[in-house]
Amino acid sequence: MPRPSGQVTYNNTGRVILVTGGARGIGRSICEQWLTSGAHVACMDRDFTDVEELPAGILRIVGDTSSDEDCEHAVSRTIAEFGALDVLVNNAAIQPPDSYLPLHQYSVELWNRITSINLSGYAFMARHALRVMLQQQSGVICNICSAQGHRTAREVAAYGPIKAANLLQAKQWGVEYARQGIRVVSVSPGAIMTPMVRATLAAQGGEAALANRAPMGRIGAPEEIAAATLWICSKGASFVTATDLLVDGGIDALAAFADPYSPPESE
Ligand SMILES: NC(=O)c1ccc[n+]([C@@H]2O[C@H](COP(=O)([O-])OP(=O)(O)OC[C@H]3O[C@@H](n4cnc5c(N)ncnc54)[C@H](O)[C@@H]3O)[C@@H](O)[C@H]2O)c1
Repeated sequence: MPRPSGQVTYNNTGRVILVTGGARGIGRSICEQWLTSGAHVACMDRDFTDVEELPAGILRIVGDTSSDEDCEHAVSRTIAEFGALDVLVNNAAIQPPDSYLPLHQYSVELWNRITSINLSGYAFMARHALRVMLQQQSGVICNICSAQGHRTAREVAAYGPIKAANLLQAKQWGVEYARQGIRVVSVSPGAIMTPMVRATLAAQGGEAALANRAPMGRIGAPEEIAAATLWICSKGASFVTATDLLVDGGIDALAAFADPYSPPESE
C-alpha cells in the first residue's frame, strides 16, 4: 500500500535530538516522528499546559529559549540523560496575532518579545549545542525558518525579517563549522496547520484564502515538515550544509506575480 504523503521510514536508532517548542505544532510532530525513527528525543518547551501527554520516552524539559540559562540547561540535561547531542532543531518561535502591523505601529515591547525568542533564542540554543558538537566533532543544527523569510508578506514587519535572519544564521554557522563535522541547515515551511496558524487565520484572510494562496491549494501538515527534518538531518544528507529547504506547497515560486501586494486598508 502506498504511504501517506510526507511519511518515509528512517532509522535514527541511538541518535539524540533536542527540539525546542516541541509541545505543540510542528515541533511536536518532529519529536514524535524522530521517536518513531528510533532516536532519543528531548523536547524543550516553555509551556506544557493543556497539551496531550507526550509519548513515553520523550524527555520533557521546561525552559524558555529567550533565556540563555534555560538553553544551557536544556543542552546539559539532554547530555546528562542521553550522553550526546546529534541534532538540535531550533523550532520555538512566536508570531503573535497582535503582531500583524506595519512597523511604525510596533511597540518596543512587541519588537523585543519577538526578537528575544525568534532571533536570540536560536543563537542561544545553537551556541550551547555547538560547544558539545565541537567536542564530538559531529552534529547537525536545523533552524526552522519560514517562506515568510524568503519573500515579503503583508504586515509581518518583525517576524518576516527575523526569519530571513534565521536563514542566514544557518548559512553563516554552516560555513563556519563545516570543517568540524557539523552541518547547519534550515527548513522553511509554508502555511502549516498548527496552533500558531489557527491563532492568526483571521489576520491571513481565513483558512480558505490561506489554502488557495499555495499552488497545491491546501495548508500543509506538521508531519510534512517533520519529514523534511528527518531527511535533512539524516546521514544521507551528509553533503548538505549552509542551505535551506523550502517545504511550502510551491508558494515561494509563485509569490510576486500571483499575489501582488496591495496596501492594507487600515493605516
Ligand atoms: N505553522 C506555520 O504555518 C509555520 C509556517 C512557517 C514557519 N513556521 C515556524 O515553525 C515553527 C513552529 O511553528 P508552529 O506553527 O508549530 O508554532 P506553535 O505556536 O503552534 O507551537 C510553538 C511551540 O513553541 C513553544 N514556544 C514558544 N516560545 C517558546 C520559547 N521561548 N521557549 C520554548 N518554547 C517556546 C510554544 O509553547 C509551542 O508549544 C516556528 O519557528 C514557526 O515560525 C510555522
